[in-house]
Amino acid sequence: MKQLLRVLHGEALDVPPIWLMRQAGRYLPEYRALREQAGSFLDLCYTPELAEEVTLQPIRRFGFDAAILFADILLVPQALGQELRFVEGEGPRLKSINDAVGLSRLKPVDEIDEVLAPVYETVARLAKSLPSEVTLIGFAGAPWTVATYMVAGRGTPDQGPARNWMYRDPAGFATLIDLITEATIHYLSRQISAGAEVVKLFDSWAGSLAPEMFTRFSIDPTRKIVAALKVRHPGVPVIGFPRGAGALYPEFAAATGVAAVALDSAVPLSWARGAMSPEATQPGWPGVALQGNLDPMLMVTGGSVLTETAKRMVAAMQGAPYIFNFGHGITPDANPAHVEQLLRSVRG
Ligand code: CP3
Repeated sequence: MKQLLRVLHGEALDVPPIWLMRQAGRYLPEYRALREQAGSFLDLCYTPELAEEVTLQPIRRFGFDAAILFADILLVPQALGQELRFVEGEGPRLKSINDAVGLSRLKPVDEIDEVLAPVYETVARLAKSLPSEVTLIGFAGAPWTVATYMVAGRGTPDQGPARNWMYRDPAGFATLIDLITEATIHYLSRQISAGAEVVKLFDSWAGSLAPEMFTRFSIDPTRKIVAALKVRHPGVPVIGFPRGAGALYPEFAAATGVAAVALDSAVPLSWARGAMSPEATQPGWPGVALQGNLDPMLMVTGGSVLTETAKRMVAAMQGAPYIFNFGHGITPDANPAHVEQLLRSVRG
């Protein structure tokens, strides 16, 4: 079995498998060249040959243990009929939805493949072209995080517009969350049928939810998605990433049924291991594999602090099922030489 899949099935490896969030992206000159050729980020996402090539670039250059499909979490709102564009140097812009009228304009889930079909083709191409030892990861945004962009119409520092709707009209907001949940089940299921061996749910803004709302809008939709995928695709692991969940990470890990949780950089690995790994004995719960959580800033900094931090992390996780990664995505100013240095530090 591939290294990453072994860990996701609960095995502890001496050398952890490694891949990096946003491993394909602007810090790579070959990405910037292809992106220019494609014209726009969305053209890259929807052109299977180009999305395949961009996914493969970091695999060729660095030899990671996993490749993550090149796409974006905001393709789902676009497929549901919401206008989407990316403004150079600023980020995504959508036509904001914050009431029943906005909701009524969205398309039903059975129409989303009209937009998303090229993504499934990218997955199918990758399933054929990836080296045999590399695991293919599909992904989607978790409903809460996707909703924060659909409601605000853009990225926000505090996810204020979605949090406001959530408190003002919980039932209306839940309708939006339920629609995204259904779309995500369908989307991930199609990715798996096309060849994704693992799927990851990015709940990048989970940390802005107060505890009761975290249960309702992060844990509950994630649990629904995981349960539905288990019925349709038994044995395909799901990685959950409730970024910023803090003290609620263990509850997320135990309640959702995910095979692994991805940790943000603020979480102490030793605490996570004690609270969530298989050795954190809780009757009836086998624990989860852990992924994370190096600060991606070290890809800018480099030097001995990078090597020492990475080695300390690998040592701290010996004997537990563990996947090396960052606590969040690599930034465009990262130095590719530091990524090589990281791989040498982790693999020894
Ligand atoms: O390499 C990979 O990780 C796979 C591809 C991937 C992208 N986005 C490509 C991308 C993945 C898994 C994502 C997830 C994503 N997208 C998240 C969740 C993870 C996280 O970072 O918290 C979020 C919140 C988005 C939404 C999004 N996409 C924003 C806010 C932005 C603009 C900000 C930015 O970094 O530019 C994007 C654009 C985006 N998605 C880029 C890439 C490579 C940059 C696009 C470019 O080339 O200009």
